[in-house]
Amino acid sequence: MSGCPFSGNIVFLSLKLLTHSTAEEEDDSQKGIDKAAKGGLIYGKYLQLDKILNAQALESELRHNKSHDEHLFIVTHQAYELWFKQVLWELDSVRELFIQNHVQDERNMLKVVSRIHRITVIFKLLVDQFAVLETMTPLDFFDFREYLFPASGFQSLQFRLLEIKVGVADNRRVPYDQKHYRENFHGQESEDLLRSEQEPSLLQLVEKWLERTPGLEEDGFNFWGKLQANIEEGFKLKMQKLEVQPDSERKEDMIQDLKKQREGFTSLFDSNHHDDLLRKGERRLSYKGLQGALMIYFYREELQFQVPFQLLNSLMEVDTLMNKWRYHHVCMVHRMIGSKVGTGGSSGYLYLRSTISDRYKVFVDLFNLATYLVPRDWVPKIEPQH
Ligand code: HEM
Repeated sequence: MSGCPFSGNIVFLSLKLLTHSTAEEEDDSQKGIDKAAKGGLIYGKYLQLDKILNAQALESELRHNKSHDEHLFIVTHQAYELWFKQVLWELDSVRELFIQNHVQDERNMLKVVSRIHRITVIFKLLVDQFAVLETMTPLDFFDFREYLFPASGFQSLQFRLLEIKVGVADNRRVPYDQKHYRENFHGQESEDLLRSEQEPSLLQLVEKWLERTPGLEEDGFNFWGKLQANIEEGFKLKMQKLEVQPDSERKEDMIQDLKKQREGFTSLFDSNHHDDLLRKGERRLSYKGLQGALMIYFYREELQFQVPFQLLNSLMEVDTLMNKWRYHHVCMVHRMIGSKVGTGGSSGYLYLRSTISDRYKVFVDLFNLATYLVPRDWVPKIEPQH
């Protein structure tokens, strides 16, 4: 018998036709026990649907000018906030695994990777979810927008917590109405934000973990020292090969090109240059953390680096998706309100547009790793682990 739940019924039905069976031989799918009748937990109670499904109070209705689309507007925002809550749940659990240093256990590392991956899947959904709200026309939105002042997504506590906990740099934020974003929050919410700013972000925790990448020890494998030596030697050999070629414009171009590439690497091995970029916010990882990341990048095919490499990829995905979220949001806002000011008091579209930049990128160093790719034979050899 196949595993298909319907095939049994097909056999049963055909038998029924042949034998003219009686009503007692009815379809088994109709049989069951009403367990809920015996008391205990039931669906609506477990999910507290009485609260969730009664939390859609239309401002337009309260003001005797009911607008059909305001229901969609509220439900969409509530769905976003619920998913933000889930993302924070996953994020906190991952941060805790790092804080407790449980990531040294491989099984916990897999947990970290799968939870970060879950966050990315949720964010994909959140990006796509704007399409539902976009079925509302700007005119339908206009019908009830005036009732929303001064409420705004800018006051979303969970969105700010999310940014902070991932590691958005406070000094890189675009000021809103010339003010620090926290000034828009008061009481408990303001305290929650302050507390989470003082806790280690995912970026800081990943940084500490990267700094401990096995193989970075100067008195051990000394990855960084070996890499620098190999790269210098590699460029020297390339230059020597070029210099013996007959003079031509092309040769000159290639020499200039090679010199530029070499300069890029010289700055990679200059810790002062790194610190300058850190101060400007153009790099976010410590020098040692960057070295760990590059090591994982180069040795991603080795058994012990495969899971760490997946983590680095997922972290970049989180950044990419958060930026996609901002981008889709700003496109929708432009379409809905043009260049009107926001209900929260910002310049609206113009403010939001300025938040789409590397200023909000957290794992920017991971994206930049590809700049430092070198031929495989320049990468210091390690003994493969099986
Ligand atoms: C018709 C739909 C929407 C419009 C017209 C709109 C408009 C705006 C505007 C103008 C701002 C800038 C702040 C202000 O002055 O108010 C803003 C910020 C924001 N909105 Fe929306 N929004 C919409 C839907 C959503 C949805 C569905 C969410 C989901 C939670 C959301 C979340 C946010 C967040 C988190 C911010 C702060 C962004 C930042 O500061 O980087 N918005 N929105």
